[in-house]
Amino acid sequence: MTQDFAGRTALVTGGNSGIGRAVAGQLAQRGAHVVISGRDTARGNKAVEEIRSAGGTADFVQADLADLDQVRSLAKQAVELGGGHVDVLVNNAGIFPFGPTAEVSDRDFDAVFAVNVRAPFYLVAELAPLMAARGSGAIVNVTTMVAYFGMSGMAAYGSSKAAVELLTRSWAAEFGPSGVRVNAVSPGPTRTEGTAVMGEGLDGLAGTTPLQRVGLPEEVAAGIVFLASDQASLIHGATLPIDGGRLAV
Ligand SMILES: NC(=O)c1ccc[n+]([C@@H]2O[C@H](COP(=O)([O-])OP(=O)(O)OC[C@H]3O[C@@H](n4cnc5c(N)ncnc54)[C@H](OP(=O)(O)O)[C@@H]3O)[C@@H](O)[C@H]2O)c1
Repeated sequence: MTQDFAGRTALVTGGNSGIGRAVAGQLAQRGAHVVISGRDTARGNKAVEEIRSAGGTADFVQADLADLDQVRSLAKQAVELGGGHVDVLVNNAGIFPFGPTAEVSDRDFDAVFAVNVRAPFYLVAELAPLMAARGSGAIVNVTTMVAYFGMSGMAAYGSSKAAVELLTRSWAAEFGPSGVRVNAVSPGPTRTEGTAVMGEGLDGLAGTTPLQRVGLPEEVAAGIVFLASDQASLIHGATLPIDGGRLAV
């Protein structure tokens, strides 16, 4: 069993930043043709260039995952770019506006659930049946440690990711019999462009984990790539915490 992705196409949402960019790079290194999505074309093209200059193959598709039409169109474009198939789907793109419940605008609430829950739902609706028809495929969802315990200021975000936790198990039940594996990772505090605004607050949060340090995107990506690979062939419906041990204590 290897982590060889030669001949496989992987769609990585949010592949132009942070954890997603690290996933895209590691998948490409292992032979996958990677389709990266995001809204920011400049960052997307840069991520593609990095992969190509390292000898890999990648394409960028611009799509706003808050818009359901664009979600469906992304799935179709990824299939086309993949020559008719997407073998790996990494539902990584996410937004995490924190704040007291009473201060969360209805706009922010809707955006969190549109990007974090509805987009993965309809990407799976588009792509998993195609994987099932081929009898193989792997889906990895990116949730968070705060999908598992209550943390003040993270009600909207944590609940959106808790929904994705349950979707992971629902899809494992639905698509497993057709040979499509579905798993998730739940990262802890990780240093990315998205968490840069938290400054030292991220270190404070990481200080509550047994390993007492902030994670690197590459460390989270390694778990995602493992779950997407044939090495994880019997791992299904599971969530791998990549959080410095926070869920263990
Ligand atoms: N970093 C952490 O500490 C941490 C911890 C636990 C879980 N996570 C989860 O890990 C995932 C990646 O986080 P990150 O820290 O790497 O974040 P990041 O650096 O902010 O990257 C987020 C990615 O999502 C994309 N995205 C956001 N909104 C989008 C939209 N409306 N349409 C399309 N793409 C959109 C962004 O691309 P564009 O801006 O180009 O659209 C970007 O590529 C998220 O699901 C997050 O919840 C992160």
